[in-house]
Amino acid sequence: MRIEKKDLLGLKDVSRGEIEGILETAKTMKMVLDSNQKKTSHLQGKSIVTMFYENSTRTRMSFELASKYMGASSANISASGSSVKKGETLIDTGKTIDAMGTDLIVIRHPMSGAPHLLAKNVGASVINAGDGMNEHPTQALLDMFTLYDKLGSLDGLKVAIVGDIYHSRVARSNIWGMKKMGVDLSVGGPSTLMPKDIEKTGVKVFESVHEAITGADVVMALRIQLERQKKALFPTVREYARFFGIDAKRLRLASPNVILMHPGPTNRGVEHSSEVIDGSSSVINEQVKNGVAVRMALMYLLTRQKVSGAAV
Ligand code: CP
Repeated sequence: MRIEKKDLLGLKDVSRGEIEGILETAKTMKMVLDSNQKKTSHLQGKSIVTMFYENSTRTRMSFELASKYMGASSANISASGSSVKKGETLIDTGKTIDAMGTDLIVIRHPMSGAPHLLAKNVGASVINAGDGMNEHPTQALLDMFTLYDKLGSLDGLKVAIVGDIYHSRVARSNIWGMKKMGVDLSVGGPSTLMPKDIEKTGVKVFESVHEAITGADVVMALRIQLERQKKALFPTVREYARFFGIDAKRLRLASPNVILMHPGPTNRGVEHSSEVIDGSSSVINEQVKNGVAVRMALMYLLTRQKVSGAAV
């Protein structure tokens, strides 16, 4: 398997074949994680820099652990501890990291398009670890891998993504990726949290969570991103939970073997109840584990194509 791209910036421009190749490589990486010996040499001699300009627990830790497991030399930059605080631009920071011989940069940034700008200006491969409200491709890949690993295929699977679709880069990446993988995809939530023209992506759109999840094989609840809301988009969090939250009673509308997903971090009692988060349908912790395998696969695939600093 080879990715013919220098960077992974979003799933909009990634083919089904490439997604399948990443998921198959992640299967091998998961075997490494499940073994007693988590050290491999896939990234020996490579250097990785993670740049997190927004908070993160799962994504940041999984990239850091993945690079360590595969033998890379790694370093981290956060906005507060870097020369960004002295006024340095993203491009100049990128060029500085590039000059140090970095093979791969992982970036999370509050501005949509920041990873694309960086990728145009550095020789290193760039992975988007979440840019504003645009895309979070590695999250969508780990979500798809969790289903692929469990079920063997995503073709014809009925998936409902519910909650704050408007602010969600996870929803956007999953829409691009899952549609390519043959998923029958629905989205549901308040109309104020639904992006304009979303139906043009080929998803079914519901303003009621009941309708979106009825008969679904998979329900993915999303966090209400209050930090990105400039004005109130629903009356109160309590009312949101009452009308749109997933609890055990509501989840029974879905398929009897429903799989419950959430990208995390979760707001217990808001987008879903503790009963379902910790219940037998939930694969939330499996998603976290699979995140390490998927990021191992991506870093390996993006760095192995490099010959003398040039993408081939
Ligand atoms: N799902 C996700 O991106 O989580 P973090 O913000 O903790 O990285």
